Amino acid sequence: MLPSLIQPCSWTLLLLLMSNLFLWEKVSSVPINASEAVLSDLKDLFDNATVLSGEMAKLGVSMRKEFFMNSFSSDKFNKIILDLHKSTEKITQAFNSCHTVPINVPETVEDVRKTSFEDFLKMVLHTLLAWKEPLKHLVTELSALPECPYRILSKAKAIEAKNKDLLEYIIRIISIVNPAIKENEDYPTWSDLDSLKAADKETQFFALYMFSFCLRLDLETIDFLVNFLKCLLLYDDVCYSEF
Ligand SMILES: *[C@@H]1O[C@H](CO)[C@@H](O)[C@H](O)[C@H]1NC(C)=O
Ligand SMILES: *[C@@H]1O[C@H](CO)[C@@H](O)[C@H](O)[C@H]1NC(C)=O
Repeated sequence: MLPSLIQPCSWTLLLLLMSNLFLWEKVSSVPINASEAVLSDLKDLFDNATVLSGEMAKLGVSMRKEFFMNSFSSDKFNKIILDLHKSTEKITQAFNSCHTVPINVPETVEDVRKTSFEDFLKMVLHTLLAWKEPLKHLVTELSALPECPYRILSKAKAIEAKNKDLLEYIIRIISIVNPAIKENEDYPTWSDLDSLKAADKETQFFALYMFSFCLRLDLETIDFLVNFLKCLLLYDDVCYSEF
């Protein structure tokens, strides 16, 4: 499925469905082999991780909105979106140009069912790692633009900081679940720095457009995945029944 460039993607709906699950009774075994004490530690870590991922997803949406509404960028962003929407092909191309596309988060029910707890954890780890450097550059480049409003810069800074915090929680969770998963495993690298720094405003704002687009999508995906993992940990198979 192809999320539109402005509508929140379908993960949001799944998240809503999922939140109902947390009201249910604990039903069955967990997807990993761990003692009650370890499970309780994991639950605490996931409690904090889901708070962070929720805040990040909200910030991703509000930063994107701000780019569209603030006079700093609104003309350029609206021109880009009109241009992109002239053809489905262009939208697809834009969507597929996000640097995290190779992480291959499952999009169908079948693929979700085939993906293990550990593989979902790796997807979250790789996505967070893949955004660490780009977010640092975003903050630097926005800070260097004197006309960049605080409302945008502050959100970029908050996302960067929370990305690091969430990464720490995920690394702690991984060290419990399977220490063999390494932090330095391959993750997609971002290569749009030249455009983000470009003196040519058209190029620079197109880079900001794509950055905020891909980031918002990924933050929603991360939020979904972290909540889904927490669900799997607490309720196991029931989590799949919502699909
Ligand atoms: C879970 O771990 C315990 C203790 O380490 C072990 O005895 C048991 O065989 C394990 N169960 C599974 C299903 O791996
Ligand atoms: C979760 O966050 C709270 C508040 O920041 C903190 O006190 C607590 O230690 C965190 N839990 C874990 C497991 O890190």
